[in-house]
Amino acid sequence: MKLKFTVNRRATTLEVTGAERVIDLLRERLGLVGTKEGCGKGECGACTVLLDGSPVCSCLLLSSQVAGREITTIEGLSEGESLHPVQAAFAETGAVQCGFCTPGLVLSSAALLADIPAPSREQMKRALAGNLCRCTGYQKIFEAVELASRNMRREKRRRR
Ligand code: FES
Ligand code: FES
Repeated sequence: MKLKFTVNRRATTLEVTGAERVIDLLRERLGLVGTKEGCGKGECGACTVLLDGSPVCSCLLLSSQVAGREITTIEGLSEGESLHPVQAAFAETGAVQCGFCTPGLVLSSAALLADIPAPSREQMKRALAGNLCRCTGYQKIFEAVELASRNMRREKRRRR
C-alpha cells in the first residue's frame, strides 16, 4: 500500500505493507536516526516521536496507524538552524546525559510545554514517566524543562 503521511512538516509517501514499525520507517527508510531504539517493547521511551503533537512510542506503532497523520521527530523540532527552546535548555542545564534517551525526553518535554506552559514538578514527572533514565536521574532534566518554560513564556510575552 501507499502510505501518505507528514513527517517533520513534509508530505511523505512510502510504499509499505502496513505492518512495518514506524521506528523502522523513520530510521531505515527516511534516515531519521535521531529516533533511538532501546527496549523495542514500549517500556523505555527512547523511540518517542510526536504523533499529531502527542508523544508515542514509535517501536509500537505500525505504519498502517499513521496514514494521514503527522509525525514529528527530533530532527523536525527545531526551526531551521534555531534550536527549539527545550533543546537549548537541555544543552544549557547539562540535561543531555547519556544522550541516547535525550531525543525522546526532549520531545515529551516539548509536548508537555505545548499543553501546559508552566508545569509543576508533579506534572513533569507524570509527562516524563514513560521516558526512562537510568543514569544520573531527572534533576537536570526537570531544570531544563523549567528553563525552557520560562524562556518560552518570556518570548511569548515579548511577541505580544
Ligand atoms: Fe520503544 Fe523502548 S524502544 S519504548
Ligand atoms: Fe539516558 Fe539517563 S539520560 S539513561
